[in-house]
Amino acid sequence: MAEDWLARWQQGRIGWHQADGNLYLQHYWPKLPRGSTVLVPLCGKSADMTWLAAQGLAVTGIELSDIAISAFFAENNIEHTLDKAGKLDCYAAVSAPIRIYCGNYFDYEAAPADALYDRGALSTLPEAERPAYIEHTKSLLRPDAFRLIITLEYEQAMANGPPFSVLAEELQQYWPDLQRVAAHNDIENCPPKFRQAGLDAVVEAAWTSA
Ligand SMILES: C[S@@+](CC[C@H](N)C(=O)[O-])C[C@H]1O[C@@H](n2cnc3c(N)ncnc32)[C@H](O)[C@@H]1O
Repeated sequence: MAEDWLARWQQGRIGWHQADGNLYLQHYWPKLPRGSTVLVPLCGKSADMTWLAAQGLAVTGIELSDIAISAFFAENNIEHTLDKAGKLDCYAAVSAPIRIYCGNYFDYEAAPADALYDRGALSTLPEAERPAYIEHTKSLLRPDAFRLIITLEYEQAMANGPPFSVLAEELQQYWPDLQRVAAHNDIENCPPKFRQAGLDAVVEAAWTSA
């Protein structure tokens, strides 16, 4: 699987990337104290990280592809340093509170963060890998951490992921306190394979902790 993601970045097959960031983030992210730490697993080169940093938050992303991370810093004109950090490499912005670790998310360890932003992380993983992702993510968050999770919901039997469908029952098994705060049919912005498979709805949903 790692090879597939690295190949996608090499070939520029990154249809999930949202140049202007995700609208749900800007609607449903609360005002957190300045300096609060935010975990962004499987971050790609998400523009959402610059938006979170602009709110005065300290952002930590984790991403497999060094191409993605270099593109993030280059496209946002952010100077960075590069250092080894155990099994991962740490790219740290010089004048913004953004660090991105390059490597496998499951090798990332750190003090618990104050908040989680997950768009295209849980929904990137096949069902069998999601419990381990949740367990690892919980180990990286304070028990009272704010969480915003953006999922996709569709008839999984009709099409293959990624992105995968993650339904309410599954998400609430992981985190019973999550509330579904918004949802809309996003099929127009989804990979063509979904329409070709006969789906007419792929719902993007936003879930937050209280
Ligand atoms: C669907 S993309 C979403 C990226 C980003 N969250 C966004 O919204 O633009 C999934 C990303 O996860 C990365 N990825 C996949 N498996 C990973 C892993 N085990 N550790 C770190 N990154 C991973 C891929 O390289 C890819 O950039």
